[in-house]
Order: sequence, then structure tokens, then C-alpha cells
Amino acid sequence: MATSTLEQSAPAGDTFPINGTDYIEFYVGNAKQASYFYRSAFGFQLVGYRGPETGVRDRASYLLQQGKIRFVFTTAIRPDLSEDAERIATHVHEHGDGVRDIALWVDDARDAFEKAVERGAEPVQSPTVFHDDDGEIVQAAFKIYGETIHSLVERKNYRGLFMPGYVAVKQHYAPPGVGLKYVDHCVGNVELGKMNHWVEFYAHVMGFRNLLTFDDKTISTEYSSLMSKVMANGNDRIKFPINEPAKGKRKSQIDEYLDFYKGPGVQHMALATDDIIKTVTTLKDRGVEFLSVPTAYYDELQGRIGKIDEPVDELAKLGILIDRDPDGYLLQIFTKPVEDRPTVFYEIIQRKGAKSFGAGNFKALFEAIEREQGLRGNL
Ligand code: FE2
Repeated sequence: MATSTLEQSAPAGDTFPINGTDYIEFYVGNAKQASYFYRSAFGFQLVGYRGPETGVRDRASYLLQQGKIRFVFTTAIRPDLSEDAERIATHVHEHGDGVRDIALWVDDARDAFEKAVERGAEPVQSPTVFHDDDGEIVQAAFKIYGETIHSLVERKNYRGLFMPGYVAVKQHYAPPGVGLKYVDHCVGNVELGKMNHWVEFYAHVMGFRNLLTFDDKTISTEYSSLMSKVMANGNDRIKFPINEPAKGKRKSQIDEYLDFYKGPGVQHMALATDDIIKTVTTLKDRGVEFLSVPTAYYDELQGRIGKIDEPVDELAKLGILIDRDPDGYLLQIFTKPVEDRPTVFYEIIQRKGAKSFGAGNFKALFEAIEREQGLRGNL
């Protein structure tokens, strides 16, 4: 069975308090169609819009929401009109559809930005105030791995929908939600030898602690392996696992991502639910594709996991994985990549006490990923 190291040292010493994930912004080739996919397949509601009809000539953004999760899909309309739009178009050309911004909700964006930059973060946007009739938002941003950034969003003086510039959208087409509640964690893939650099970055710049470490022996299959460290903030609302490839007989899944994303970036986002059987059943009905594990996985489950509340035959039918740690257990399942490039995918997770990440499932999971990789001719 796989093992992982729970780091006991370094307590939380947040450089600045973070209340949670504010939003995740994707740069995509066609935001109208991407938003339709996330509405119809994943049950997000379209709540806001910014684009030519609202006075922004060069790009369009769709704000989608489910539970506390906010996704923004942005596309360039006129890359020739502005540096912003050109950057969006270039990002899509280079990386395909992907995550540009994991925005963090803070109490004081100016203070957070100043402290992060003082500790070595590379600035992208200095604190800027955006107003409308509903008040003001202060926003700043700094770089993380690849072309990904963290925006810092201060919204204590804002009563509006989301941000100045966005108008509320009343949608006629509104498939119901699937029970997704909040972002549990966001995982980054970085180049060989760079994991510790980003671990250091989160520790030093943001005061995060190293919650868990998985070495290349923990996460390995016959063919390939990877290493991973999980960084978390003081209130544990923000968890960023960082993966790097490790040497194996064949190309690892992280190498495949780095080749197709053309560099480091967000690999998967884990979205939490209170009823994974219901959520996954609905997602499958709506066409979301998941990785599957061999039925043998469930034969040996009882011994490894012990008693759980959910009927194992239902979990097996859906392909949901189970893992236990000293605090409880968790249920999880992974989608296939949601675009043609084998890059971004999702995890659906239900925690029943467990604080870990399913290390006991890594082997079954990575073998499932490698089967897909083989089908793509990338193993
Ligand atoms: Fe995960």
C-alpha cells in the first residue's frame, strides 16, 4: 500500500490571511461554448457576463457559479485591440484552454500584495481599485508557475454580483446543479526539478506549510512515477499540491501534460460534494467522462478500508475510489481531460473526515491514466 509523509514541523504562519478561493479564471478559445459545456454537463449556473454588449470591446467573460465555486471563462474577441486581449489569445494558442488565474479572497489586497512582493513574488498587477454603483473591489496579482497567476481580491466594500463591469444574467437555459460545493484543492504540474522551488515559494512568500509529501516510490507504476508535495494555508481552506515528473521506464503523465500544455500549469481542480454517488451519477448522465479502475480494485477494498456508509456495489458501478487516513475516509473520482489536449481534468471528492488526498488510490488511478495515455500514443 502506498504511504505518505505527514509533515509535523512548520506550523502555519500565513503571510496574509486568505478567506478562500475567490474564483478560477480560464482563458479559452470560445467562452460562449465553454460556458455552455460547464452549464449543461457540470450544472454550473451562468450568473454574470462582461463583453462588447457591456462596453468591453476586446474580450468576453462568462461568470458561472455552483455552491461557492466561481468559474470565469474568458476569450479574446479582438486581440488587435489591446494587450489584454492579445495576451488571452496568445495564452490559448500556446496552452489550449487552461487556467490563467487562481484568485484568492483576501481582506486587504494592498497589504497582501505588498507582503508577497516583499518576499519575492513577481508582480503582474499592482493594487487597482474598480468601482461601480455597488461599491469597490481592490485587486492585485502576482505570478506563480508557468503563466499562471494568483489574483488577490478584496471585496469587503462591494455589494454587487461579482465585480464592476459584470452584468447579471438571467438564463432561460438552466440545467440544475449537480451538488458541487467548493474547491477542495488545485493541483499544479511543474517541470522536473522545480517542485521544491514552488514548495519554497508557497512556504516563503505565502507562509504555507507542507501538509503532505509523496515521493516517487509512493506514486509509481510499472512505467512511470511522479513526486508531489501539498502546500496548505493556516485555515486549510487553500491546498495546492505541486507535482513534478520522476524518472520511469516511459513518459510520465506529468511529462505528457507539460508537453501538451507547453509548460507548467494547473493539472486538476478537486470539487467537493456532500453526496458523491448522486453527483457522479448525474455527471455521467450528462456526458462527463470518468477514468475507470478494474473491478479487482473493489474486491480488495473491504480489507483496506473497513466499514463505510456507502454501498460498495454502487461505488463500484460508478468507479468511485475510496481511501482512509487516521481522521476518516474519502471518496473520489477523476474525469478524463475536458479538452482535446490531455491537460486539465477534474476530481470530484467527498470527505468523510479524511484530510488526505487518496494516496492509497494512486496506483490504481495512475494505471488508469496510463491506459488512456497509451491510447493517445503518449506513453
Ligand atoms: Fe486531487
